Amino acid sequence: MQAVALYPEGPDLRVIGKERPVPADGEALIRTLSVGIDGSDRRIVDGEIGGDVPDGEDHLVIGHEAVGVVENANGTELTEGTVVTPLVRRPTDGDSRFARTGELDMAPAGTFHECGIFGAHGYMAEYFTCEPEYLVTVPESRAEYGFFVEPASILEKSLDQAFAARSGFDWRPESAFVLGNGNLGLLGLARLATGEEFEQTYCLGRRDRPDPTIDFIEGVGGTYVDSRETSLERVPEAYEAVDYVFETTGYPKHAVDATRALGPNGVATLQGIPGDETVELDAGALHADLVVNNKALLGVVNSRKPHFEAAVDWLGGVSTELLDDLVTGRYGLDEVDRALDDSPETLKTVVSFE
Ligand code: BGC
Ligand code: ZN
Repeated sequence: MQAVALYPEGPDLRVIGKERPVPADGEALIRTLSVGIDGSDRRIVDGEIGGDVPDGEDHLVIGHEAVGVVENANGTELTEGTVVTPLVRRPTDGDSRFARTGELDMAPAGTFHECGIFGAHGYMAEYFTCEPEYLVTVPESRAEYGFFVEPASILEKSLDQAFAARSGFDWRPESAFVLGNGNLGLLGLARLATGEEFEQTYCLGRRDRPDPTIDFIEGVGGTYVDSRETSLERVPEAYEAVDYVFETTGYPKHAVDATRALGPNGVATLQGIPGDETVELDAGALHADLVVNNKALLGVVNSRKPHFEAAVDWLGGVSTELLDDLVTGRYGLDEVDRALDDSPETLKTVVSFE
């Protein structure tokens, strides 16, 4: 079969021939339909993050946003022909309590691999094997868009954590603000704008019109905030103080400034992972603002099965037109370089195996 493999020296990305995997006992064989590309993939391929090969191998098959079909159930409880999407993390120690409770997204570093990111092969291959506990069913009507489940599950986890952090009182959020108009930001905005939780949504970018991300933001009913004109600390006076911030930029200043955009009792979740970057920070003002306004700043990484299921629910209810507006390119295996390209016209790109 064909697969897209990263050879970390270089780094060098190649389409290679590999043996089709044989499912072990307890695993099913999945035929891949398509794999989405996100910022992590681009950084892995550029040698910036992850890319660690599985033990004893010289390459890493990339791709962690996959949808496929059960080709061979191999005696598991799965049914052949079912459309599925796989979770990202696998335990390095099967006895870990996080593996047992299905909460690997909360496990400490060193106790798991992330398929396609570090330590375990990903899904950008014609076939992969997987245990049913790491698969979530996708309705057939959304098979074409199933690669959205993993990134959408990040938003679901973040929302879950945000609401949990405010569960100590009668929280009545009205507005949500997404930082960043990359693929996760726009998908998150689409979820927040079409969901029940918030009446107002905003999305931060730094682009001039005409621009496809601004068109998308406004198309789903969000308000575009240009960070070059309105800094985060000016958001409360220029627009309104928001109840929830979903950060996706990985820009460390945003972690701090997000709290400025929040109103009293607001909560921000941070998902972007910065590289080495230092910023100047008025720690006293940040500390005071968090305390006297009951604000919360939460880091959120990865996601687990219930978040995937919530994402599947959302995907099943949202219009396919909205999803089509997000997908700016579907590419074959031989065009993976184009799929990884990130131009201003790129929203979401996908590698398709069909
Ligand atoms: C993935 C997460 C992963 C994180 C850190 C993200 O792109 O979607 O599942 O935990 O990167 O590697
Ligand atoms: Zn990702």
